Amino acid sequence: MMNAVKKIVISEQEIKDKIKETGAVIAKEYEGKPLLLVSILKGAFVFMADLCRAIDIPLEIGFMCAKSYYSGTQSSGVVKITMDLEQDISNYHVIIVEDIIDTGRTLSDVVKMLKARNPLSLKVVTLLDKPSRRLTDFEADITLFTVPDFFAIGYGLDCAEKYRNLPYIAEMGE
Ligand code: IMP
Ligand code: MG
Repeated sequence: MMNAVKKIVISEQEIKDKIKETGAVIAKEYEGKPLLLVSILKGAFVFMADLCRAIDIPLEIGFMCAKSYYSGTQSSGVVKITMDLEQDISNYHVIIVEDIIDTGRTLSDVVKMLKARNPLSLKVVTLLDKPSRRLTDFEADITLFTVPDFFAIGYGLDCAEKYRNLPYIAEMGE
C-alpha cells in the first residue's frame, strides 16, 4: 500500500455495489430520453468510467475541466474552466458526474454555466459529499457516499496530482 494512505475509508467493493445501484436508478429514470453524462475532469474520470457502464441504456458522454485546487490540500477558491464541452447541450438531459462536493463552489459555478445553455434537464450525481465544509447552498441530486471532513485520495481524487490511481477511497496520511 502507498505510504500516503492512512486508512481505506471506502473499499473497491463498496464503491462497485453503490455504483451498480445508482446506475440502475438512472437507467430507469432516463430510459427513452437523450442522456448526456458530463464529467468534471480530472477527478471524476474513474467514477465516470464505472458509472457509465452501470447505466444500461443508450447515452453519450462529455468532458469538461474545472479546477479549484491548485496544489496540495488547499483550495484557492477560484474556479476556472480550462476545457469546455464540445456538445450543444440544448437537446440533452444532462447529468453532471462529479467526484466530490466540498465547499460547493466548483459545482455551483458549473451548474449555473450549464443551465444558461438550456439543457432539457440538469442533475448532479456525486461520488462523495463533505457537507460539513460547504460554503454555498449547493446540493447534489444523487450522492453515493456522505463523508466527514478528511482529505480523500484515490478513485480519481488526487493530492497534488498523485494517488488518482488508487482503486479505493482513502484518508490521506501525513
Ligand atoms: P469545491 O469547489 O470546494 O466543492 O471542491 C470541489 C473540488 O475540490 C473537487 O472536484 C476536487 O477536485 C477537490 N477536492 C475537494 N475535497 C477534496 C478531497 O478531500 N480530496 C481531493 N480533492 C478534493
Ligand atoms: Mg482535484
